Amino acid sequence: MKRFLLFFAAFVFSFSVFAQKAAHLALTPPMGWNSWNIFACDIDEQKIRDVAKAMVDRGMKDAGYEYVVIDDCWHGQRDSLGFIQCDPVKFPSGIKALADYIHSLGLKFGIYSDCGTKTCGGRPGSLGHEYQDAMQYAKWGVDYLKYDWCFTDNINPKGAYTLMRDALAATGRPILFSMCEWGNSKPWEWASEVGHMWRTTGDICAKWEGSCSNGTWTAWSAMTILDMQEGLRQYSGPGHWNDPDMMEVGNGFTLSEDRAHFSMWCMVNAPLIAGTNIQKASDETIEILTNTEAIAINQDKLGIQGFKESEIDSLEIWYKPLDDGEWAVCFLNRDSIAKTIDYNWAEKVINDDLSKRETKFNEITYSIRDVWAHKDLGNTKKSLKAVVPLHDVLMLHLSVEKKAEKKAGKK
Ligand code: GLA
Repeated sequence: MKRFLLFFAAFVFSFSVFAQKAAHLALTPPMGWNSWNIFACDIDEQKIRDVAKAMVDRGMKDAGYEYVVIDDCWHGQRDSLGFIQCDPVKFPSGIKALADYIHSLGLKFGIYSDCGTKTCGGRPGSLGHEYQDAMQYAKWGVDYLKYDWCFTDNINPKGAYTLMRDALAATGRPILFSMCEWGNSKPWEWASEVGHMWRTTGDICAKWEGSCSNGTWTAWSAMTILDMQEGLRQYSGPGHWNDPDMMEVGNGFTLSEDRAHFSMWCMVNAPLIAGTNIQKASDETIEILTNTEAIAINQDKLGIQGFKESEIDSLEIWYKPLDDGEWAVCFLNRDSIAKTIDYNWAEKVINDDLSKRETKFNEITYSIRDVWAHKDLGNTKKSLKAVVPLHDVLMLHLSVEKKAEKKAGKK
């Protein structure tokens, strides 16, 4: 018995010393879909299957969306040994069958739990069952875990998330770890070795500005959440992303607002987790979510988060340094009237201390691509004249002109 205990202690010790998050995952911001924003607790296996199928049929998979994640309320009870089971009424075929189906579509499968005694929806949490839960997820074929922070009185967040990271690592299955601690303990300061992404705020709601009251707690509008990202860009990068929450595109905004919300999530390296019903969404919503030119800005391999360069009269100008000397520029109109732009590039000096990049508009000519109109707009030698409708964006991709010519010449 003594020998067994020693062996067991050495086994656990070696895992805790060498445990690491899966290093090859999330080298660009994760992309996928999550059930919470549209279905909340009203989920079942058919709904998830229908969305997964629609992810393929409606071009989401081809645009880069990979993970189909079931959020809260899939749980039943624990069995006599303490292993978690799914709700047998909502998921009669079981989680493994659902994961197999999602994998058969070429997609990956994600699930949800909580550090505390219960999930936010009152289902069993993982506290005290971390290794058992991780084993169960791996057995089912889970590729992604979102791990929430309800019912965690007196729990240390770093300890709780590190414990689950190690439990996931011990399964030997690469599982993307999405931390949902709402930014309470500034996870950006300590979690780059723990999770692949961490929520920076409380929950989002489908509102443009301000907040939404839910009685005992408050959710935040897309623009308020954007404001809350200030000061965090140095913590974002390949393998560890600031997460301003799942998107509300298609859940009640105007098309302009949807476009602006999506664009800004692209500019700040947000994980692109769609939160609408992909099966029932309008063609316009799908067109926004699958704009590969905007997605390319989000997925740029340098992984440098964009920044607000200036703000005049509710018109914000955001820059994001991209690979190969390129830049994304986004004019965001938060006002309720259209804005006319006359932007003289040559006069602008854009220096980014974090990436040590400068645009050098007086030395370098960039060609301009409008990523929503899918049109070339000339180059930065001339002032840019445009109108940005209310609650909308003009999102541009600048590439160094000489290179663009060379590339064109090669064809
Ligand atoms: C919290 C999370 C949400 C969602 C719900 C589920 O509020 O922040 O994203 O997962 O719990 O109950």
